[in-house]
Amino acid sequence: MKLTADQLDTFERDGFLILPSLFSPAEVEMLRDAAEAMFAEDCPQNFREQGSGAVRTAMGLHLRSPVFERLVRHPRLVEPAMQLAGDRLYIQQVKVNAKAAFTGELWQWHYDFATHHNEDGVPEPLALNLHVLLDDVNEFNGPLWFVPGSHRCGAQPAALDTETTSYPLWCVDRETVTRLIDAGGVVSATGPAGTVLIFGDILVHASPPNLSPWQRRIFSLILNPVSNAYRRENRPDHQHHRDLSPVAVLDDDCLHEASPGVFSS
Ligand code: SIN
Ligand code: MN
Repeated sequence: MKLTADQLDTFERDGFLILPSLFSPAEVEMLRDAAEAMFAEDCPQNFREQGSGAVRTAMGLHLRSPVFERLVRHPRLVEPAMQLAGDRLYIQQVKVNAKAAFTGELWQWHYDFATHHNEDGVPEPLALNLHVLLDDVNEFNGPLWFVPGSHRCGAQPAALDTETTSYPLWCVDRETVTRLIDAGGVVSATGPAGTVLIFGDILVHASPPNLSPWQRRIFSLILNPVSNAYRRENRPDHQHHRDLSPVAVLDDDCLHEASPGVFSS
């Protein structure tokens, strides 16, 4: 799947794309079922909320499930990424972030490169984050908030936050966020399940807690150019995979051919 010239212009201007309903309800159903099996596991790849103990993010999914093994090679994700990055890409991180109804916690203001650079020694902000919404995401159930154009302001100062949530993250301070939002505004990335979001490594974003009665699950695949690979192995493999093989693209109907269930460990 190729992005249009308009979509490429929008990505360059805003730093993100929202592509509604790219995956069908049947495909989303398959992904949700596979995610549910992953969330039931008790393992180091599953990070739990500080408050409720519910799984907040489940990582390394392409090594745990045949369905996610295919999704990370799906042409509707990988081809636009290759078009934007113009290089061979490896699979850096694969996860589902969940926000349970009523209790799902926030993600602080940040840009991903601050963590990729400071933890993993990634040299340049060239990675792309590709999301698939697994639930309908609306203004109430904890959508991502993007600051359009913030990627054009360069990498902002960032500091490691190990307290606000259970997941250590390099975050941007309030003054910087205020300045960036004064300049570019803020956009809520909502859409029906199956919608795809694409954003770059220095786009500033966050997401609020989920006080609504609707859960919110989002799949995330981070692809990074092989030439821009990590230089440091601070974090476990599931937070930054070490395999630098360029990701291969499967057929458009690849999900339908996947067997359900989990890989045995
Ligand atoms: C979220 O799942 O709300 C945040 C995801 C991200 O920061 O990439
Ligand atoms: Mn992020």
